Amino acid sequence: MEILENKSLKPYNTFGIEANSRYFAEAFTIDELKEIIDWASQNNQPILLINGGSNMLLTKDWDGITIRIDLKGIEILKGDEHWAWVKVESGENWHQFVMWTLKNDFGGLENLSLIPGRAGTAPIQNIGAYGVEIKDSMTELTALEISTLKIRKFTNAECKFGYRDSVFKNELKGKYVILDVTFKLSRRNHVLHTDYGAILTELERLGVENPTIQDVSRAVIHIRESKLPDPAEIGNSGSFFKNPVISAEEFKKLKEKFPDVQGHQKNGGFKIAAGWLIEKAGWKGKRFGDAGVHQNQALVLVNYGNATGNEIYNLSQKILEDIYQKFGILLEREVNII
Ligand code: EPU
Repeated sequence: MEILENKSLKPYNTFGIEANSRYFAEAFTIDELKEIIDWASQNNQPILLINGGSNMLLTKDWDGITIRIDLKGIEILKGDEHWAWVKVESGENWHQFVMWTLKNDFGGLENLSLIPGRAGTAPIQNIGAYGVEIKDSMTELTALEISTLKIRKFTNAECKFGYRDSVFKNELKGKYVILDVTFKLSRRNHVLHTDYGAILTELERLGVENPTIQDVSRAVIHIRESKLPDPAEIGNSGSFFKNPVISAEEFKKLKEKFPDVQGHQKNGGFKIAAGWLIEKAGWKGKRFGDAGVHQNQALVLVNYGNATGNEIYNLSQKILEDIYQKFGILLEREVNII
């Protein structure tokens, strides 16, 4: 275990925000992770966990210890002719893991291609894209309880998954470190999810008639590359806000005022595209210093270089207030504000 002092967190968050951590340590094994947590509690240092750093906005220096999770490995636990149970360690890059599943012809994660971040944080916000969420194929995960250093399993049901939500964002927030995640993936008769409009259009454009899981992945990658900024080039955290769900009555009123608004029925209400609201309100492509709203996808806030976390946060607050004033809808941030 090596504890570093006064470390910049800029390389560890995809927003590329400059912030310092008083202490910093990387955990390559579970034992090391336990040792670091032990050190933190003995020295009274609050813990900030960083894995992929792809869903956080740092608005201040961290006066404590940042622990970077670097557990690596992918393992096929068991399999039969139909299914494979695959365990991925927390610190594996999510997209590279998805590529590994596709190389092995394991189906289930293809729609989740090219999502930034790492495997161990994917369940926290139940990552999802193009009609598929991680909860659809995750069977269980293992996590370390920070206060007791005990390891326990969580079944899919125990994770209490919802739209961009899980028990780890609510009652167990900050209490566990996810160590590994297990998926049940198909080996044959793959069920393709191509109902999301853009995927069908993209498959057609690629001239694919009978798509494979690899083709779906390729289509998803093309769509994402055309709309979403690559964090390696422009700092961002993907969608900054969640898509709001409003009541049927509210949706009816909104539709009368804005006939082009799109909504999908959800739990008796309507889920609407926050990106549409933000664009309609005139924010798309706006830039204030180095903080901005992405030009191709208004749901994504970007750091053009040297924006501070507070500049990004203040921009998000202005958007939030403006959307509330114009549409009467209160947006909710999806990104974890530190
Ligand atoms: N739209 C606009 N203007 C915009 C952006 C979107 O009008 O600037 C409208 C369009 O009508 C479009 C609709 O919004 O048809 C939906 O847009 P898109 O397919 O890009 O998806 P999204 O609802 O904006 C969600 C996820 C994304 C995920 C995509 C695809 C959330 C918060 N975001 O975005 O997830 O990739 O669907 O499934 O649910 C992320 O969480 O970081 C993320 C990128």
